[in-house]
Amino acid sequence: MARILIHAGSPLEGTVAVGGAKNSVLKLMAATVLAEGEHVLRNVPRITDVDCMADLLRSMGLTVTWRDGGPDGPASLVIVRPAEIEPVAPYDLVERMRASIVVLGPLLARFGYARVALPGGDDFGPRPIDMHQKALEELGATFTFAHGYIEARADQLLGTRILLELPSVGATENALMAAVLAKGTTVIDNAAREPEIADLAAFLNRMGATVLGAGSSTITIEGVDELAPVEHTVIPDRLEVATFLAAAGIAGGEITVAGARPDHMDMFIQKLGEMGMRISPTSDGLWAMAGRRLDAVDVSTLPYPGFATDYKPLAVAMLATADGVGIVTENLFHGRFRYVDELVRMGADIRTEGHHAVVRGKPALSGAPVRAWDVRAGAALVVAALKAEGETVVSDVEHIDRGYERFVDKLRSLGADVRREG
Ligand code: EPU
Repeated sequence: MARILIHAGSPLEGTVAVGGAKNSVLKLMAATVLAEGEHVLRNVPRITDVDCMADLLRSMGLTVTWRDGGPDGPASLVIVRPAEIEPVAPYDLVERMRASIVVLGPLLARFGYARVALPGGDDFGPRPIDMHQKALEELGATFTFAHGYIEARADQLLGTRILLELPSVGATENALMAAVLAKGTTVIDNAAREPEIADLAAFLNRMGATVLGAGSSTITIEGVDELAPVEHTVIPDRLEVATFLAAAGIAGGEITVAGARPDHMDMFIQKLGEMGMRISPTSDGLWAMAGRRLDAVDVSTLPYPGFATDYKPLAVAMLATADGVGIVTENLFHGRFRYVDELVRMGADIRTEGHHAVVRGKPALSGAPVRAWDVRAGAALVVAALKAEGETVVSDVEHIDRGYERFVDKLRSLGADVRREG
């Protein structure tokens, strides 16, 4: 079992490069199902969730190969989709990664049939897929459920208006990837507006689709008959950028995150400004400085462009050593406070009540053995430990590997006292 060992040290300093966005590349990989031939995705992070999606595509009959980017360059993925594939997502792969559900829309659109294992719940609480199903039914699909699998069928999807009850990222993506090959016009209203949705639409448009308005609440899609494979560069991972900014906020110091897109994370940057950090765009990314202890702020998670639920563990970690009291409210997922118990083991003063956490900042935490419950919570524990006396040992690091490439090396390059065992 891999572990990360952290000691508080001097302020961070230097430049770190951000990788491609996990939550974009997984969907782009699913979208390759839509067109026969060779696709190339550039700026792909070498993380285990990408390996998992690669295994899923391979199990369906696609070929997925890594192309090395040289010593420092980002890697690419070459994905070849043959004429015929097996449109089935088996349980052992879906169970490894819930995001596998996004193959449903493209499989249905291209092959008229999909058999996908139902994802279970996870540490966030229940994760239903009712909106995915409803959106695809509106496009003309029919569903049956048996033996833990969802089976979807459609002879021809037909364009329609889809009004999502919530701006669900996954449901928007499944509907979008199905609608590009539907007959006629589809309008998705109350669509999710995340930058990763706009990246998916850019990829689809390059393939020959006609998608307008992605990144806004209304996406309009004119169906086409065929799509063609293309090359595409994945957008930077705003969650990884946020993690380095949070690390600098906690440890203090001055860092540059090369490749960051500040326009993808306005709300996070605004909050860090309110906490007392100085942040400024550079020609190729973001510069950030924390010259003193951060001030506490309140945070409430909302769909994009609101404060992302994925930033929340980082916010709680920052508040744990900030000056004052911050109230953090979760509006998207039921669970997602489990890592709080781990921060409390490190001496943080945090009380949770329903969807709220009240965080009373302390000048420093106290190193302890703790456990990473999910990818973002795990990263948050590591950055919190940058201001914990003594040694912190984070176990279950496999969760962090799902979404962070060379996390420890990158933190070390900024001068953090962090090392990995196993
Ligand atoms: N929801 C439903 N029914 C549905 C779909 C969603 O009730 O059919 C609910 C969910 O239970 C949740 C809310 O809607 O309460 C939002 O869920 P959404 O569908 O937007 O989330 P997702 O697509 O499953 C993606 C990211 C998550 C991120 C959320 C919210 C990927 C692979 N995952 O999940 O990221 O937290 O959007 O922004 O894109 C991560 O990167 O670690 C991660 C978990």
